[in-house]
Amino acid sequence: MDGGPAVMIRSLRGRLFTGLTAIIVLTGAAGGTLAYLWAYNEAIEMQDSVLTQIGTFAMNASTRQSQPVGGVDAESEVVLLELGPMPHGSADDRRLWTLHDGLHDDVRHGRQIRVSLWSRPDGSRFAVAQGDEIRVEIAGDMAIRTLLPFAALVPCLLLVTALVIGRSFRPVFRLAEELDVRRADDLRLLPGESAPSELQPFLGSINGLLERIRAMVEQQRRFVADAAHELRTPITALSLQAQNLDPLDMSPAARDRLEALKSGMRRTRHLLDQLLALARQDLASSEVKETVHLDRTAMAVVADLLAEASARNVDLGFTVAEPVSVSADPVAMVSVVRNVVENAVRYTPDGGRVDVGVYRESGQAVLQIEDTGPGVPPQDVERIVEPFYRGRRPTGDGSGLGLSIVKRFVDRYGGSMEFKNLTGADQTGLRVIVRLPALD
Ligand SMILES: Nc1ncnc2c1ncn2[C@@H]1O[C@H](COP(=O)(O)OP(=O)(O)OP(=O)(O)O)[C@@H](O)[C@H]1O
Ligand SMILES: [Mg+2]
Repeated sequence: MDGGPAVMIRSLRGRLFTGLTAIIVLTGAAGGTLAYLWAYNEAIEMQDSVLTQIGTFAMNASTRQSQPVGGVDAESEVVLLELGPMPHGSADDRRLWTLHDGLHDDVRHGRQIRVSLWSRPDGSRFAVAQGDEIRVEIAGDMAIRTLLPFAALVPCLLLVTALVIGRSFRPVFRLAEELDVRRADDLRLLPGESAPSELQPFLGSINGLLERIRAMVEQQRRFVADAAHELRTPITALSLQAQNLDPLDMSPAARDRLEALKSGMRRTRHLLDQLLALARQDLASSEVKETVHLDRTAMAVVADLLAEASARNVDLGFTVAEPVSVSADPVAMVSVVRNVVENAVRYTPDGGRVDVGVYRESGQAVLQIEDTGPGVPPQDVERIVEPFYRGRRPTGDGSGLGLSIVKRFVDRYGGSMEFKNLTGADQTGLRVIVRLPALD
């Protein structure tokens, strides 16, 4: 898949993540602030009630002296102030005396304090006081702890969100990947069962399109096959007519023309045969699976080509012929073996050698052909299986379709083919290996 759709998906993912991050962070912040304020107020109220409790104890205590109240939490700096039966002492103490019983905010020695005033039955008064700074500090300390769960939870939630979003989008990327690595002629439908329901309409559309492409490709292949097939009849008729001219008397110049005409017709017929063989490979309806004995097929092909080989003094023979069979279309199999052996014979110079081998190797039926020809230039090896490609310096007649037929055949029947240039001390050559799944 190229940039466009991938970018859109990424931004979809980004949008989801940004939105959820904003929600999580805002919720965390709002929740944290509320929890902090609530805990802070609670802590202040609790300290008020501590002041009141200390006052209650002091009411019944025997001591009548101002003193710091130590004990549970020395740092809370609560002080018991004895104010006496009448206002006396500093201005702050006098003012305190005038306040009525209960909780008040006041100032003492220039510091804000919270104070709880009490009157004893005998008329003497006392106060329990605490500095505001320390109260605020204690309340702040307590309230800040309520933020801890939020501080831990928000990053965890963000992480989980990122993971969940990443996971949810995985099927989309898997789908893109699957389509990416597909060969152009692989028009199988995409499996839909495991995909999430949001992708189903999309999958349905892609599969619909694949189906239409498949029908169109099949139609075109059938057209090529039909056209090649239909053209064979008139070409055969023309060849016959040309042959009928053979016994007639004619000038050497006319005979030359006749020979040229006949060889042109042979080439055309060969091209049509090759085209038909190639088109048949692609037709879904011509998928035939019969038991084919590869060794026997090879022997028949070799026997057929022996005359042509010996005419050019090429030593064509078998190195090994193990009985091994494959499941394939027998007609196509003959055309495949013929094309490879024919190439070896045709591209090997006069007096050369062509060795054919058929054997079984780790569950594969192997057809191996070695010749003493020029081999294929490395830069051509990839391309010689393309239809109509005949190399940079084509020699002899040929349509350039032979190896395409072989390639499509091995692809169709789950095999493979391999070319290796042989470079010996004083000779060159090409080794072609065709592998097909062997039958037991
Ligand atoms: N054994 C070989 N030695 C050297 N070159 C080869 C050999 N086999 C194939 N080639 C090269 O690969 C090209 C493609 O081969 P392919 O069989 O597809 O087409 P062709 O032989 O040219 O035509 P066709 O087989 O359709 O009559 C050939 O033209 C030739 O250049
Ligand atoms: Mg060929």
